[in-house]
Amino acid sequence: MYNPNLTRMPDGTWCCVFQVNDHANQFAVTRSADLVKWQPQDYPYMEGVNSCLAPVLSCDAAGVCKVSFKTRDGSVYETASRDFYHFSKPREVAVSAYPSVTEQALVDGQTVNGQVFKVTYVEVEHMVQVAESAVYQAMLNGELARDDEARFDGLPLLEATISIEAGKTKKISDKLIGIFFEDINYAADGGLYAELVQNRDFEYSEADVKGRNKEWKADFAWTLEGKGGTWEIRTSEPVHENNPNYAVVDVGQPEQVALLNEGFDGICVRKGEKYDFSVFAKQLEGKGGKIRVSLVQDGRAVARAVLAAPAPGWKKMSAVLKARADADHASLKVEPLGTGKVALDMISLFPQRTFKGRKNGLRADLAQALADLKPKFMRFPGGCVAHGDGLHDIYKWKETIGPLETRKPQRNLWGYHQTKGLGYYEFFQFCEDIGCEPLPVLAAGVCCQNSSDRGYGQQGGIPMDKMPDYVQDVLDLIEWANGDAKTTKWGRLRAGQGHPSPFNLKYVGIGNEDLISKTFEERYLMIVKAVKEKYPDIVVCGTAGPWSEGSDYEAGWRLAKENKIDMIDEHYYQTPGWFIYHQDYYDQYDRNGSKVYLGEYAAHAPGRPNNIETALCEALHICGMERNGDVVAMSSYAPLLAKEYHTQWNPDMIYFNNKEVKPTVGYYVQRLCGNYCGDEYIESTLAVNEDRKGVRERLAVSTVRDSKTGKVYVKMVNLLNRPVKGKLHLSSLKDRFGEEGGADARLHVLTGNRDDRTARPKESDIKVTPEFDYELPAYSFSLLEI
Ligand code: AHR
Repeated sequence: MYNPNLTRMPDGTWCCVFQVNDHANQFAVTRSADLVKWQPQDYPYMEGVNSCLAPVLSCDAAGVCKVSFKTRDGSVYETASRDFYHFSKPREVAVSAYPSVTEQALVDGQTVNGQVFKVTYVEVEHMVQVAESAVYQAMLNGELARDDEARFDGLPLLEATISIEAGKTKKISDKLIGIFFEDINYAADGGLYAELVQNRDFEYSEADVKGRNKEWKADFAWTLEGKGGTWEIRTSEPVHENNPNYAVVDVGQPEQVALLNEGFDGICVRKGEKYDFSVFAKQLEGKGGKIRVSLVQDGRAVARAVLAAPAPGWKKMSAVLKARADADHASLKVEPLGTGKVALDMISLFPQRTFKGRKNGLRADLAQALADLKPKFMRFPGGCVAHGDGLHDIYKWKETIGPLETRKPQRNLWGYHQTKGLGYYEFFQFCEDIGCEPLPVLAAGVCCQNSSDRGYGQQGGIPMDKMPDYVQDVLDLIEWANGDAKTTKWGRLRAGQGHPSPFNLKYVGIGNEDLISKTFEERYLMIVKAVKEKYPDIVVCGTAGPWSEGSDYEAGWRLAKENKIDMIDEHYYQTPGWFIYHQDYYDQYDRNGSKVYLGEYAAHAPGRPNNIETALCEALHICGMERNGDVVAMSSYAPLLAKEYHTQWNPDMIYFNNKEVKPTVGYYVQRLCGNYCGDEYIESTLAVNEDRKGVRERLAVSTVRDSKTGKVYVKMVNLLNRPVKGKLHLSSLKDRFGEEGGADARLHVLTGNRDDRTARPKESDIKVTPEFDYELPAYSFSLLEI
């Protein structure tokens, strides 16, 4: 926000305009009734100008607004609006017509420039109250475990009475715990997607990294080795127009030149494992010859294969390489053995041992770590990746299916390159393989509100005349996933790609934490209505902005209610203190309105660790969500995956490198809750012998029953720095107890020091009785499986 300028409308409300940057032909508009809550801003598009600097707003008695702004070359323009959303085409006016509105005032002894308005005392008092309340909230939200010694000094021995009322139950969602996969932190290429060759398509470009790395070009990760050879990138007559770049290696002497790929931090192979190599090749000039492919480390080949000589036209060739030894950081060596110019593209190496042995599949250990969470659904492909950095960067599902060479690689807005090898087909296949519901998210016709790439900066909207095509793309996705393999166009295509039976898609997400501006609203409702009209059974999941409160949150929920949207995706990354004091966040939600999907959340403590403190905050919140499982239908921690040394965001749920998967403490909370969940909530209460603020709020209990297995799961969280003697009243679970009055149970306990990043749950078999004493360890999550 630069150069904000305010005016008061005849009806008493406030309107504000501001400059967004020094190059967009847009300024921002927003309004407020009380100078506290501001409507999400829109960005009117000013045709024919190169910038909108220092906009100044005025308004006449009829409520018509006029905005005067400057451009980079010093010209002045005016535009007008009746509704403060649609503005007239800007008209150049004399420079002298630019109004001067800045005044000087003395504030706290300092002279400042700005605007001066006379407001009522009631308005001032309201602002003061809001500010004071925010200070108080910030104090609670700022509480951290590192201060617990002082905070809880002198507490008596704590005793909690935990009562389980098996007679008081309610139906809850059986899909509460899922996962959210986004290609952030190298989660896809170099991560879950098992491809071992980096930049296999020679499509890296400086635009991927916005010029931050001068070496990030089409030849990135590749080097030429040997004597008497050269190589270059060409674009004429490529394998496919969506992949214009390819490499041409010019070999002078036979067997003297090789192209080497360094993989993603090296290529990691294991002795005895087989690897599928493939390449598109054509001999352009010269005699040519066979192509030798090897995996080399420290000058030694650990695997080798030879391909036939390429033909004069593009042809896909393949070979299997079997590793004779382990190598943690090998390179792939591609050696044209004859002389002349040979063209190479889509140079690929996959382990045969992918998850479930799928071709073009997923890294087995990482995929297994996800499967072990027993997620009930998977949201993909973003996050911000779904709505993109600028309108041109919106993720288009149709560009991610079909043969790899036809898929359209793209800049990843997290600052790297996405091949889309892990595309919609693979996402759906993975969901099917692990038995969870796919939840694809499509942009709501707007790009990310933090967009900085090319025109339409900020949250631009797809021009309305192009929206029908965009809406059709969304409808086509549902037909592709669910359509009949013989009678529907997109179902036929899916069948041709290898999946004749439908994927049975039930959910579609529209939008990702967007600004709930008018630009958004028009496009979002157009998509939501079209989907519901054609596919009434599809559950549409809308959005309520990027925060747990405030103007987008309120506007998102207003739209949900007015339009009866099935489910709303909320996002909030919050401090430990926020989670402690918001256990009741969903208690007052409308039981007859839209369901909630908490699509992104995590506890963020200073330094962004994933440790016992943050994991227990998430466990506290899950207990609250289970208790409200009649309105909270789904939830997913975010982000999911992060490759060491390539993270743009912390904390994440699972870290990894090429050799190892490193689940966090938070992962184990999600895993326990994903594995031990139910579809019925059993009323559970917890009373503690201390009413000092912050004590009860650090304790939680939740009990659920799985109606299929009859198992009951009691979850207990203690986020205090001391143990709590628990008295569990379980007598209402009478059907569990045998004649001798005991029942077999399994206890899972996750505990450690507040900053422990390595804690793992421990399991033991125990006997529980109707009146049962259990001490909740300091900083712990306990789960009783009865
Ligand atoms: O989870 C990381 C990012 O957080 C997501 O891309 C976005 O939706 C949110 O801002």
